[in-house]
Amino acid sequence: MTQTNQDGDVSEAQIASHWREEERIHPGAAFISQANMADPSVFERFTEDRFPEYYREYADLLTWDKYWHTTLDTSEPPFWKWFVGGKLNASYNCVDRHLDEHRNKAAFIWVSELEDEEDRVITYQELYVRVNEFAALLRDFAGLKAGDRVTLHMPMMPELPVAMLACARLGVIHSQVFGGFSGAACGDRIVDSGSNTLITMDGYHRSGGMLDHKVKADEAVAHAEANGAKVDKVLVWRRYKGQYQSESPMVEGRDYFVDDLLEEYTGRRVEPVSMPAEAPLFLMYTSGTTAKPKGAQHSTGGYLSYVAGTSKYYQDIHPGDVYWCMADIGWITGHSYIVYGPLSVAATSVMYEGVPNYPDAGRAWRIAERLDVNIFHTAPTTIRMLRKAGPDEPAKYDYHFKHMTTVGEPIEPEVWRWYYEEVGKKEAVVVDTYWQTETGGFLGATLPALQAMKPGSCGPGALGIFPVIYDEDSNEIDPGSGKAGNICVTRPWPGMMQTVWGDPDRFVETYFRKFNKDPDSKSWRDWPYFTGDGATQSEDGYYRIVGRVDDVINVAGHRLGTKELESAALTVQAVSEAAAVPAIDELRGRVPEMYVSLKPGYEAGPEIVAEVKGAISTIIGPIARPAHVWVSADLPKTRSGKIMRRVTAAISNFVDVGDTTTLANPEVVEEIRQAVQSAKVAAGQVPKDIPQAMIDEIRRFGEDA
Ligand code: WTA
Repeated sequence: MTQTNQDGDVSEAQIASHWREEERIHPGAAFISQANMADPSVFERFTEDRFPEYYREYADLLTWDKYWHTTLDTSEPPFWKWFVGGKLNASYNCVDRHLDEHRNKAAFIWVSELEDEEDRVITYQELYVRVNEFAALLRDFAGLKAGDRVTLHMPMMPELPVAMLACARLGVIHSQVFGGFSGAACGDRIVDSGSNTLITMDGYHRSGGMLDHKVKADEAVAHAEANGAKVDKVLVWRRYKGQYQSESPMVEGRDYFVDDLLEEYTGRRVEPVSMPAEAPLFLMYTSGTTAKPKGAQHSTGGYLSYVAGTSKYYQDIHPGDVYWCMADIGWITGHSYIVYGPLSVAATSVMYEGVPNYPDAGRAWRIAERLDVNIFHTAPTTIRMLRKAGPDEPAKYDYHFKHMTTVGEPIEPEVWRWYYEEVGKKEAVVVDTYWQTETGGFLGATLPALQAMKPGSCGPGALGIFPVIYDEDSNEIDPGSGKAGNICVTRPWPGMMQTVWGDPDRFVETYFRKFNKDPDSKSWRDWPYFTGDGATQSEDGYYRIVGRVDDVINVAGHRLGTKELESAALTVQAVSEAAAVPAIDELRGRVPEMYVSLKPGYEAGPEIVAEVKGAISTIIGPIARPAHVWVSADLPKTRSGKIMRRVTAAISNFVDVGDTTTLANPEVVEEIRQAVQSAKVAAGQVPKDIPQAMIDEIRRFGEDA
């Protein structure tokens, strides 16, 4: 029997997939001979019957002050506790313990966006000194202690990991907000996390200009205050020591220059605070189905074990490698795979301040050549952009990668091939890593020396991760059948978030309710983790992620909640209703488009469009700025009044709108379609080939809203 939902559509699990099976590509002998994990017996160690003990292998990569007594405590589902009884310090594990062997090795090589500015090379010894001095300042000047939260709103400067590790040294929970986010977005996160200290910077280089960043701190503090949270101290690093780059005045008694304060702390050392494995290390806010971003809370012992293990086995980082993850530390990718993972295995991690194509499309490859980078890591959106800007650029530079990662969105096989052939010069393995802010580290990926690559598929579950695909009725879809459904993970793993900060009910509701069979069950078997993604599994066991099944739009690898976008649009006086939908975009994967209707007495016009775009940029950040705002008299709705985002999404993407006869107002569909599509045709914005995955995504878009 075919399942239908209330609007008469075939449910997502029944939608057939139309993937062409891609050929599998095997890693070269040169890679295999040097790989950290080239021994197939690893798969015998990570079998289901060895759960959860197999993760000892990751935890044993760390230095524990006190070894744990219980590997996994599942007594309070789904709040799993890893390595219970153990104690450790994350900053000690990332810095101090490497000093004996690697004191003079670069921990970070920071590259300015300005090509003629010198790199800043920070050895492990230098990092140790800076982390200690800043930790002393945080403790003695800002009065911070274990368990307190601190919000960071920092650009890609070495002071960001220094601040994170200084917090970790004290057991202070850091919450870094992506530097490109607005002051208001930062303010919301200050309120939610209950931080009374904000760490920021005066400015930084972006696309060739000096961006004033400190002004956002003033907005953040004002926004937090308006929402009942007081920020006592704003610690302002200066991009150039002693030279203030911002127009914003320093507020007496609130704002302090870190470089001035640090003079008092020269040479200071702070004992790393030994923290329980279960103590939170940091919060990372991410978008979901409601307007309010949720703080994914990550643990110290479980998280660090997981990123250390995956950095070693999947990223194949050796202490002698030069590893460059071209992402922003303000996202989970940067936390796990620029800072905590690489440093825990004593890597040299490259940090780049600016945009990848400044001043030209060869910039990234010049950096790779100059620093002799051999492991490279970035997102499909960046790969698409570099391919478009300079398809032949990589060949002009003499660098050689052994390993390349892609992360954050599905990668089109055609883009994958350019990455493999041109960027990797067919010498590098490509590892497509599928995971989330919530999961701390990889869920699906190939072990590069042992499992073949397949363009567009992330591969099988990572070691110890056993995914399952459920249909809408919680029936397991036959493994290997190629049918799309909801991808879940059947058992706990150490990198998984502990809870949503301050909102355990939301944690249970978002990630577990849908596929939990018995809310009273004390067995982890009844609590599969729901990712919110749709996926298929092919016969060889490889997963292909087809996109979000919830109300999240993945824009250039960054998650934006439709509700977040809509509530920002609704702050515009004239707007009465708003619906955010994803539109396919050649470079960014998806871009948001807004459909709005107006309150009586307001006229559609370019001012309203500009106001909505402006409101979204200011409230969330420029990354969320909609590509289009379509104003109409009414939006398509069900008889129960629910806005049919699926219909507007189909219109934006020139996809068949399907059956609209059950709508309360079917007549508006055609009106909107003509207006939107004729405008797009006139602007030359008709998408070329809409992949089947996008059509599937549109058909289910906003179903739960
Ligand atoms: C998507 C980023 C396909 C997915 C680490 C997920 C991917 C969301 C991949 C998480 C991939 C991430 N292939 N899709 N390799 N990696 N995604 O929280 O929809 O910023 O749920 O974490 O990005 O995004 P987040």
